[in-house]
Amino acid sequence: MNKTHNHIPALITIFGATGDLSHRKLFPSLFHLYQQDHLNEQIAIIGIGRRQLSNDDFRAQVKKSIQAHVQDTKHLDKFLQHVFYQPHDVNDEASYKKLLKLSESLDEEFSLGGNRLFYLAMAPQFFGIVTDYLKSSGLTQTNGFKRLVIEKPFGSDLASAELLNEQIRRSFKEEEIFRIDHYLGKDMVQNIEVLRFSNAMFEPLWNNKYISNIQVTSSEILGVEDRGGYYESSGALKDMVQNHMLQMVALLAMEPPISLESDDIRSEKVKVLKSLQVLEPEEVQNHFVRGQYDEGTINGQTVKAYRNEDKVSSTSVTPTFVSGKVLINNFRWAGVPFYIRTGKRMKRKSIQVVVEFKEVPMNLYYEKDKHLDSNLLVINIQPNEGVSIHLNGKKYVQGIETEPVQLSYSMSAQDKMNTVDAYENLLFDCLKGDATNFTHWEELKATWKFVDAIQEQWDKFDPEFPNYESGTNGPLESNLLLSRDGFKWWDDIQ
Ligand code: BG6
Repeated sequence: MNKTHNHIPALITIFGATGDLSHRKLFPSLFHLYQQDHLNEQIAIIGIGRRQLSNDDFRAQVKKSIQAHVQDTKHLDKFLQHVFYQPHDVNDEASYKKLLKLSESLDEEFSLGGNRLFYLAMAPQFFGIVTDYLKSSGLTQTNGFKRLVIEKPFGSDLASAELLNEQIRRSFKEEEIFRIDHYLGKDMVQNIEVLRFSNAMFEPLWNNKYISNIQVTSSEILGVEDRGGYYESSGALKDMVQNHMLQMVALLAMEPPISLESDDIRSEKVKVLKSLQVLEPEEVQNHFVRGQYDEGTINGQTVKAYRNEDKVSSTSVTPTFVSGKVLINNFRWAGVPFYIRTGKRMKRKSIQVVVEFKEVPMNLYYEKDKHLDSNLLVINIQPNEGVSIHLNGKKYVQGIETEPVQLSYSMSAQDKMNTVDAYENLLFDCLKGDATNFTHWEELKATWKFVDAIQEQWDKFDPEFPNYESGTNGPLESNLLLSRDGFKWWDDIQ
């Protein structure tokens, strides 16, 4: 993990290079890596798209998006000299032959050592055909490394994910496949492991003896924006829970790995994901809540209901909100609920973990029916980045009353300037060949199994949607999920 390899020569070929992800995330991140000297002159990037564009047209587009996303644009023109474009038809063999020629000539021009990274920032239905052609055209026969980076969604259930995996594995080995989960590139998500395993004070308490429940929330203010088409076939369960939310659960629940080697970390995560209690049909209703946003007010603006969004059916039953109680059947976690919650058009943008500890065995400070405040460990992932610990202290009045006190650490703006985005971390990891922060096939299998059990049950009954107003914390049932167990969402805590 901490291995520093500066300057890995490589040819980065981005399929879907004119798309939103490339412009908002990939090019700004690659540029920032270049600026920081993590990429040097031995780098070439080929943007692949359907449109007929010249290198100059494409460079002008890339320049504009970088200027919009990166403050300091020193060396931008120099960086753009490494960017090329090829119009391409993914179904046409001739396009791949042309790509091979271009790749070989750039390899020579920039001394890339035959290292090739293929980034598929495109609709997943093309993954199989592209990887087949990459192999048959000879693009994957190279003296250097060959790696494949793919974006989610990886399948729409376990069966389709398996099919897709078989297709891709015809051309790339598991260790050459980097499945992106951008949450794993977030600094504070990576910090979960560091906090747990580099501090003596947490690990002894990190189990069902001392923790009563763990809450993981990722709420957004944004609605579905212009992604209605994709979102209708996915919804919050597949868009967020199957990947980001369960990945965070795995990091919170995993056993200490024997080393920071990728395989050691991933195998611990796989173990947790395999111990997720897959719900029986009759349990789904009580363990999971689905919701869909209605119109409402956010920051003083009226926003429309999901069913009125572009490319969304007016009778859609797609959930834009999911909360649920996840149980992990192993020694450490038996009986501790992990509550997860994610939704669009909610009250605030927040990615946060709250670890709530059990009460002290005997409360000396109050009469019988009064409780001490819970000790909490709060990990703020976004937009605030930091950690806080909530304790009880003595009130500054006579007597022995307690009051809540908070110790907090917040990542400074200086730290944050080191990366423009999670994608920057992840792209650099791909170049280094460090797969730690990518999703292994075994993780995908386990998470799809968990999610499929919920989806299958949901498919049997149409929900009464919409059931939460935009700008709120989601449907009321989500609160009941916790109150039934004697807990509450720690909504306003930092
Ligand atoms: C993506 C989902 O994976 O994550 C989006 O497809 C969602 O629907 C996004 O908006 C949230 O990411 P972040 O980093 O803003 O929390």
